[in-house]
Amino acid sequence: MTIVLGIESTAHTFGVGVVRNGKVLSNVKKTYTTNKGGIIPTEAAKHHCENKEQIYFDSLSKAEIEEKDVDAIAFSQGPGLAPCLLEGLKFTRELSRKLKKPIVPVNHCIAHLEVGKTTRARNPVMLYTSGANTQIIAYESGKYRIFGETLDLGVGNFIDTFARILDIGFPGGPAIQKLAEKSKNYIELPYVVKGMDISLSGILTNLKQKYESKKYSKEDLCYSLQETVFAMLIETAERALAHTNKKELLLGGGVACNLRLQEMARIMCHERNAKLFVPEGSLLVDNGAMIAFLGQIMFDKGIKIPHTKIDEIDIKPRQRTDGVSVRWK
Ligand code: ATP
Ligand code: FE2
Repeated sequence: MTIVLGIESTAHTFGVGVVRNGKVLSNVKKTYTTNKGGIIPTEAAKHHCENKEQIYFDSLSKAEIEEKDVDAIAFSQGPGLAPCLLEGLKFTRELSRKLKKPIVPVNHCIAHLEVGKTTRARNPVMLYTSGANTQIIAYESGKYRIFGETLDLGVGNFIDTFARILDIGFPGGPAIQKLAEKSKNYIELPYVVKGMDISLSGILTNLKQKYESKKYSKEDLCYSLQETVFAMLIETAERALAHTNKKELLLGGGVACNLRLQEMARIMCHERNAKLFVPEGSLLVDNGAMIAFLGQIMFDKGIKIPHTKIDEIDIKPRQRTDGVSVRWK
């Protein structure tokens, strides 16, 4: 029986989760938010520093364990914002020294994917749509391979940017979804799929121009945004299913909380006899439990760095999903 603690700090969220034998015991997090402007990395890092102790102790108490019960500490090594990642690493080192327990460095994107095993997905194609990342990923011969991705913006950042233009706050996803639900009036937008990749910056410019022209309502624009961009995501995901011959689609990342995206995925899967898997919402957005979850899988396969060597570990702000060698499968 192993208990692994996971620390997430790649961007706006600081989270600590506890997993015992694949079961999530606790998942506590706090998210830095702003009304105006984008996320300022140093401010987010400050937020993490100020909240880390409390989130950590809350997570232990929700899991009903004590510090001494922890077998290893997993942390998000990358990709992400360097100042935020550094806060996570500093805290991980502190804990590792104090508890004399090893560290497991985890790739954030792959954690989003692996935590899908809390559903019954076994060998899925994954549509991973979060703030900075938009990728279609599947495991093939020793690596998580990227079959398609965005050529510019991540879909979450795209949605958040448009939400800022509409002045409806951050994160924009839930607010855009609410507005979209009030319309059925489709306004044509560019549809940009290039092979297996998508591109969003042109659509963003187009939406901005349309909004500023004052000829269209927020509701109609949000509805059309969702219908267009989600159709692009589902089209590429469907092609990845066909190409890999897999029969399961797994959603991950914060944008997967969107009910219309889930609905479109469900329809597509139904039509091609595939199964759709959606982890629960608290595991879709950035969170510590997914880091603990993958950390435990890796730890159980002997992947760890002893507390005596913690100074050799560094963050990897630009780590790529397909650059990680998957030694735990
Ligand atoms: P990354 O994982 O790439 O580092 P991140 O940390 O921003 O990015 P998540 O926490 O997984 O990612 O997701 C946050 C994003 O999810 C935000 O852009 C937010 O607007 C979006 N989001 C959350 N709920 C919804 C929703 N209901 N509809 C659409 N988007 C949503
Ligand atoms: Fe994420």
